[in-house]
Amino acid sequence: MDVNEFDFEDRIMSTEYSAEDSETEVGLRPQTLDEYIGQEKAKEILKVYIDAVKLRGDTLDHVLLYGPPGLGKTTLSQIIANELGVNLRITSGPAIEKQGDLAALLSNLAEGDVLFIDEIHRLSRSVEEILYPAMEDYALDIIIGKGPAARSIRLPLSKFTLIGATTRAGQLTTPLRDRFGVLLRLELYTPEELATIVKRSAGILDVPIDEDGALEIASRSRGTPRIANRLLKRVRDFAQVMGDGRITCDIARMSLDKLEIDELGLDNTDRRMIETIIDFYDGGPVGLETLAATIGEEAVTIEDVYEPYLLQIGFLSRTPRGRCATHLAYDHLGKPFKKKAASSQSDDGQMKLVD
Ligand code: ADE
Repeated sequence: MDVNEFDFEDRIMSTEYSAEDSETEVGLRPQTLDEYIGQEKAKEILKVYIDAVKLRGDTLDHVLLYGPPGLGKTTLSQIIANELGVNLRITSGPAIEKQGDLAALLSNLAEGDVLFIDEIHRLSRSVEEILYPAMEDYALDIIIGKGPAARSIRLPLSKFTLIGATTRAGQLTTPLRDRFGVLLRLELYTPEELATIVKRSAGILDVPIDEDGALEIASRSRGTPRIANRLLKRVRDFAQVMGDGRITCDIARMSLDKLEIDELGLDNTDRRMIETIIDFYDGGPVGLETLAATIGEEAVTIEDVYEPYLLQIGFLSRTPRGRCATHLAYDHLGKPFKKKAASSQSDDGQMKLVD
C-alpha cells in the first residue's frame, strides 16, 4: 500500500464506508420514507411506485440508484424493502465472483423480495449474463454439460426486485442499464438538509446540540450524510472533553478547525488537489490522468470522491481539455486569479465532455 492510498483510506472526509461508520450508520438509519431527509425528487417518485405496487399486490420494478458515494443508497434500499414489507438481501458487485454465487442468491429469494447489489458496475460480464433473464423473465438459464451435448435448462425464480447502486452509471453496460425500470439519481444534500440529519442523529445518540452547532457541522460535511454523522461523533468527543457536552457553534467550529476541515468542508487532500491545478498547471486545463499521477491518487478516486463536491461548490470545472480551477477556488486559497486571454474554461462552469 503506498502512502497516498493510506492517506485516502484514513481520511475523515472520505465518502467511503469504513468500519467506524458501521456502529453509527446502522443505528441512525431512517426506517421509512417519511423519516428519510432530503432527496425529495427520488422520494416522491418512489412513494408513487411503492403505493401503486401495494395497491396492485405486485412486485416493484427493478431500481437503479446512482450518484456519489455516502448519500444513502443502501439506506434507501432498506427503506424500500421496509415500505413494501419484504425481505432485503444485500450484496455487492465485487463480492459475487462466480455465476453460481449469484444463482444461489437469486434462487433463495421469496416472492417480492428485494436484492440489493452495491457497486453493480463491478459485476463481471459472466455474472452479469445470469442477471439478464433473471431480471427480465424471472428465470435462471443453466447450461448443463459441455461441447455438442451441452443444453440449457430454464429454472423459474420468484418475482423479485433488483436494486442496483452505482457511483458510475456510465460504466454500466447498455443491456444491464436497459433492464432497470426506475432510474433514480441521488444528489448531494444541502447544508439545511444535512443540519436536519445531524439534529436527528444527535437526538438518537443523546447528544445535546443547538441549531448553529448542527449547521456548522452540516456546512462542513460536503453534502454527504455519511460525513456529517462521522463529524458529529468527532465533535461530540471535543464537546465532552473541552466543554460541557453540548455541541454549540463555537465547539463545532473549534473541533473542525483542529481536524483541519475548513468552513467549506475541504480537507488537506482537497486543498492539495486544487493547489496542484493552480500551481503546477496554471489553473488548468489539466487532464484527469495527469492530475491523478501528480497527486498520487487513482483517477477514479478523483472522479468519484473529490470531484462531485468541488464541482458542486463551483471550485472546479470540467472541460473537454481537462480540469480547471475556477476563480472561487483561487479566492478560497487566497491566491490571485489571473484571467487567461483565450479562456479554456467552460463559460458556465457546467459539466462538459470529460477526458
Ligand atoms: N442518516 C443518513 N442519511 C439520512 C437521511 N437521508 N435522512 C435521515 N437520516 C439519515
